[in-house]
Amino acid sequence: MLDLRDKRIVLGLSGGIACYKSAELVRRMIERGATVDVVMTDAATHFITPVTMQALSGRPVFVNAWDARVPNNMAHIDLTRGADAILVAPASADFMAKLVHGRADDLLSTLCLARACPLLVAPAMNREMWAAPPTRRNAVQLRADGVGILGPGSGSQACGETGDGRMLEPHELLAELIAFFQPSTLAGKRVLITAGPTIEPIDPVRVITNRSSGKTGYAIARAAWEAGAEVTLVSGPTALDAPYGVTRVGVESARQMYDAVIAAAPGNDIFIAVAAVADWRVANIASDKIKKDDHEPPALEFVANPDILATVAAMPNGPWCVGFAAETQLLSKFAHEKRLRKGIPMLVGNLAQHVMDADDTTVSLFDDAGEHPLPAGSKQDVARLIVRAIAARLPARHA
Ligand code: CTP
Repeated sequence: MLDLRDKRIVLGLSGGIACYKSAELVRRMIERGATVDVVMTDAATHFITPVTMQALSGRPVFVNAWDARVPNNMAHIDLTRGADAILVAPASADFMAKLVHGRADDLLSTLCLARACPLLVAPAMNREMWAAPPTRRNAVQLRADGVGILGPGSGSQACGETGDGRMLEPHELLAELIAFFQPSTLAGKRVLITAGPTIEPIDPVRVITNRSSGKTGYAIARAAWEAGAEVTLVSGPTALDAPYGVTRVGVESARQMYDAVIAAAPGNDIFIAVAAVADWRVANIASDKIKKDDHEPPALEFVANPDILATVAAMPNGPWCVGFAAETQLLSKFAHEKRLRKGIPMLVGNLAQHVMDADDTTVSLFDDAGEHPLPAGSKQDVARLIVRAIAARLPARHA
């Protein structure tokens, strides 16, 4: 997925053991389509060599302000002009202090001062250094100066201590960087999403489920987080990792999903029902494993599961609701009917046979004004378009 396609990023490394994570980060940025110019402080070169960063970025690495490879000796200008962002990862306590004071005594600090693009920093330091009053003051000042601070994370540190101050992991920094380039259409909103299949027990070892992979719901959750929302994802069992920044509540059966959603819904602005919820559950669940030699093939009785989406849509002052429908035929007809039956303002419809377990998808939006096909693309790109469409339709009470 080329989420950073056409982006030129300057990746700055200041001195810290977290430099080893930046090797992985540069690879992941390039995999996502970015062009990355690496600039290192002298201290950073003690932790990882410029050769490593050059091999991984596929471009020259700069350390020295007097680098003769830049014909006009203006590396600090050349490297930032045309860059979409500078990300300093790791940003040491000393480097943050330098930024606050506008110091420019090496190439990286000079180009941060001379930049004409956004600056993001990923602090990495011992917990006492992060908690120290000067660093607290510097973080506040950097934010006031418009610098984005990513993390830090919490946990065990290279020094053997445990606490706040470790650099975010490469996949977390990548998620933050990708989100930085997305429009903040849902800033300050709370979004509740269901995803994945449900599983309904037959006996203690057997279940009935469906083929939902959860990919679409997880992509919507990620896109909503990227758009600035606080996201809760109520998910049936899937093989997917929770998207970074999203709170996942794991459930199995439709009734567990119903209970989790009904409890959370009143505190949310938007509810997006993507889960493939089992319409029925087994009424006569066997308390012991059904043995094949004891029985004829078991006669299962079914009862209907509650409709989660229709229940939330009927809540007074409830969240603004979006449904999903995967049909195998007559998409427009069934989608319009389903939207009206569920009492929801918007429904996303697609043809199931085209998208089951696939990475790409084609969907149409259905609302009061009719059908609106979206451009085909990866599930993540389409999820971003759906999130933007939701943000554009939010009525005043929710907007
Ligand atoms: N949904 C739900 N709770 C259920 C069933 C479905 O919240 N018990 C939601 C799904 O998450 C999805 C939408 O409702 O957003 C799908 O509607 P549904 O009536 O389940 O569609 P189908 O099962 O496909 O209906 P039908 O079998 O009539 O086509």
